[in-house]
Amino acid sequence: MSIKTAILNGVATIEIARPEKKNAITRAMYLAMAAAVDAAVADPAVRALLITGQPGIFTSGNDIHDFMERPPADGDAPPFVFMKALLACDKPVVAAVTGAAIGIGTTMLLHCDFVYVCDEARLAMPFVSLGLVPEFASSLILPQLLGNVRAAEKILLGDPFTGAEAVECGIANAVLPTGEVVRHARRVAERFNALPPGAVQESKRLLRRARAEAVLETIRVEAEVFARRLRSPEAQEAFSAFFQKRRPDFSTF
Ligand code: COA
Repeated sequence: MSIKTAILNGVATIEIARPEKKNAITRAMYLAMAAAVDAAVADPAVRALLITGQPGIFTSGNDIHDFMERPPADGDAPPFVFMKALLACDKPVVAAVTGAAIGIGTTMLLHCDFVYVCDEARLAMPFVSLGLVPEFASSLILPQLLGNVRAAEKILLGDPFTGAEAVECGIANAVLPTGEVVRHARRVAERFNALPPGAVQESKRLLRRARAEAVLETIRVEAEVFARRLRSPEAQEAFSAFFQKRRPDFSTF
């Protein structure tokens, strides 16, 4: 099983655990993560969720094999099922970024409530170099957080950013030593055991209310473009190059 789940001391942990493929997330893994989020929301014993990865890798993003073979086509595709569950979750979600967070690995952080990044981690959204476009409202949220010109570096050039930069622009709360990040994130999640859950959940909903409609609308528009781009010759060249361990050649497009 490449998603491990556990409930301990009021915290539901979702651990991405496919280190041999750098924690690339498959369709089955998205569905397992969505089910874990939904179960945590329904369980009154759970006060907060913790999403984490493996030492050295949070996730390398969507499984590129899946992108090639069964590209997500509509809102029922597994990545959407997971992200919809995450967006609908009114319990606090804490992310412990244990290493590289690529693609949806960074995008999902924009929808968590607390983000702690280990000092070795790099975040990246290399959608354009894969022939793709931003997803799950990152084209809305990133310019709001970073400003247009720095968002262009991250989205159009796919430049990676450090945990310190993620803290500076408000994507992450703090950078922690690698060995500390999960423990620290868990301690934050466990603080919700001492807080009134109704007030926490209503406050989370209020914090998101002003932007909620724009986020959903942006996700819808991005998804249409993303689905089209997945089938483009540019994306096919990028995916093939990845598995052939060569640089993609976009010179003829
Ligand atoms: N999808 C499918 N398989 C992936 C993957 C992904 N997103 N990321 C890594 N893998 C696989 C590799 O194909 C390789 O498989 P193999 O051992 O059968 O050849 C294995 O995981 C190890 O990856 P490798 O690239 O050899 O490790 P690395 O340490 O040199 O580099 C990364 C690690 C994360 C920098 C690199 O794997 C990478 O860039 N991955 C793709 C990231 C990406 O573009 N994600 C966006 C998807 S939208």
